Amino acid sequence: MSDAEAHHVRVLRGKRVLLGVSGGIAAYKAVTVASRLTQAGAIVDVLMTAAAQKFVTPLTFSAITGRPVTTDMWGQGQGQILHVTMAREADLFLVAPATANTIARLALGLADDPLSATALATRAPLLLAPAMETGMWENPATQAHVATLVERGATLVGPMPGRLASGAVGMGRMAEPPQIIEMVRKVLGRKGPLAGVHVVITAGGTQEALDPVRFLTNRSTGKMGIAIARSARDFGAEVTVIHSPLQVSIPFGVHSVPVTSARDMCEATFDLLPRTDVLIGAAAVADYRPATVAEQKIKKKDDITIQLVRNPDILAEVGRQRKATGRPRIMVGFAAETEDLLANAKAKLEAKNLDLILVNDVSAPHSGFGTDTNQVTLLDRWGDVLPWPLLSKEEVADRLMVWVARQLRGQSLADLGA
Ligand code: C5P
Repeated sequence: MSDAEAHHVRVLRGKRVLLGVSGGIAAYKAVTVASRLTQAGAIVDVLMTAAAQKFVTPLTFSAITGRPVTTDMWGQGQGQILHVTMAREADLFLVAPATANTIARLALGLADDPLSATALATRAPLLLAPAMETGMWENPATQAHVATLVERGATLVGPMPGRLASGAVGMGRMAEPPQIIEMVRKVLGRKGPLAGVHVVITAGGTQEALDPVRFLTNRSTGKMGIAIARSARDFGAEVTVIHSPLQVSIPFGVHSVPVTSARDMCEATFDLLPRTDVLIGAAAVADYRPATVAEQKIKKKDDITIQLVRNPDILAEVGRQRKATGRPRIMVGFAAETEDLLANAKAKLEAKNLDLILVNDVSAPHSGFGTDTNQVTLLDRWGDVLPWPLLSKEEVADRLMVWVARQLRGQSLADLGA
């Protein structure tokens, strides 16, 4: 199992997910959703409408989930009313695909099949993955039903633009299974330890323009920042990532603020500051930029000299302002070092007014830019030091979020343990 998969397992393990499958061609993709959730340790109970059974058989889902599939209201409950029991125990009700008909029925509160009756009975959050022809999606009736459900607290994933069952291209394609899984994780995490907290993360290596076609940058891929974003989201935080162009995709359910240069990133960070509770500087911000940006492409001729000037130090500037405003409440930085790790990190922690710095020996194997793992040592503002073993970036992110959650509750590094 890859590290990323291991991360999925932790978030979803033991969670009870009701998967309502209604009658659209995308029902076949719901099989993959059920499979991934089950593999990640969730207990998945599938409820199918009559129309869904025209596309996929209940046997397919029960073989995948290892659990009986509910297809009618009568006769399965061993003395219990099955949909009421399932509804009570559920952590999440996912409807994928959610057809126009099912969405309408849910909005109206109908309860004449197992899917709608269970949706009505449960207090678990409702996540809908709509799938239908563009005309049906855009119809004011569907839009009104969707608005009603969203107003009552339902979350949507998709629909997406793309090729539809009819062969037409337009809005109405069901979100892909990995996107649905991402949203499941987000919704399940909503009441997590960082609920109500806005975490802002800078990620990636900035690009400093030299001329219209060239720029200076570094080896940062953004993997660490994105792992932190997903983890913060799964812990229930509202998450914004301010990022330069990345080699990894932005997870579902986090806000993305694309920027290019260090100065853009700095400006975006300051714009968000009044709404930032926790700032995590995971970006590899270029320390220098070309003093001038040539208006035209620089021509090949003799040797040239490029003069570089200092970029703003984002965390240091925020740290300075923080002394007056108290915001953000928590500030975390990274230090990529090749020598004198702790002494250098301590100096940065103080200069940037950080609460915590994660020190990374980038010359060590399996650590630093582009790797999937990191070996970091934590150093906090009280001088406590905590070395972590070599971990996946997801694991580092999860542990960091545990630290943030505890810090918000007033606990220190010493409480965290290795
Ligand atoms: O000083 P140094 O670049 O080693 O510090 C690294 C930390 O400071 C990282 O958290 C990085 O995101 C942040 N940083 C910044 N602005 C800069 C340089 C670094 O926010 N110009």
